[in-house]
Amino acid sequence: MAIRPLVAGNWKMHGLQAARTEARAVAAGLAAMTDPPEVVVCPPYTLLADVVRDVAGSAVDVGAQDCHWLESGAHTGAVSAGMLADAGARYVIVGHSERRRPEGVSGGDTDAVVRAKAEAALAAGLAPIVCVGETREERDAGDAETVTQRQVAASWPDVFAAEPDLAARACVAYEPVWAIGAGVAPQEEDIAAMHAVIQTTVGAATRVLYGGSVKPGNARAILATDGVGGVLVGGASLAASDFLEIAQSALLHP
Ligand code: PGA
Repeated sequence: MAIRPLVAGNWKMHGLQAARTEARAVAAGLAAMTDPPEVVVCPPYTLLADVVRDVAGSAVDVGAQDCHWLESGAHTGAVSAGMLADAGARYVIVGHSERRRPEGVSGGDTDAVVRAKAEAALAAGLAPIVCVGETREERDAGDAETVTQRQVAASWPDVFAAEPDLAARACVAYEPVWAIGAGVAPQEEDIAAMHAVIQTTVGAATRVLYGGSVKPGNARAILATDGVGGVLVGGASLAASDFLEIAQSALLHP
């Protein structure tokens, strides 16, 4: 049986109140589709509760872009998975490469931290989207599969092995760091090879999304690639028209 694809939009640090119009437009656009894919928008924290209200009653789910691994406490500026669930989120991205990288404003998240965040998400009733993927240097060195498989194994909660229902709710997003925001996605055969490696590690119940320069122009081919259970879209999720076109592409591949 074909798994229903998931199309997720990661708004990153974009979006003031006016961006809520885009979320409402996505909800309206999906209502016009027969049997749409599962669609999630992940706005910044400041818009989360507003967007939950904006899309209430529609086929759109709302996710956050990160969470802390603890329930509460003295962690200035942090947001727990329980708070996200309380605000109406159903998904949370964890381990995005922009949060794994150590420098600057990013979190410097290790695999162990990413796993703890995914576990916190599950405990709060959220579905984690666990991101993995190699850098350009790792790919050029021929290490893409090894590095990514190691990341998945170390970031993926153990509980999934015993609980297929939970594993079916969660996703892995394969996002080669070099393809994010680059404008060019990998060749489809490279995506298929990486997805096969990841799927072997996480098991058949989990959707493996592809992310990195997904656009209306390449979404159809990517979503038709073997092992691709959906897409995680950055830049092209900011305009409802582009994002809906990508969601529409998923429809053609039941
Ligand atoms: P992009 O970002 O679609 O803008 O390349 C994807 C992501 O970082 O999730």
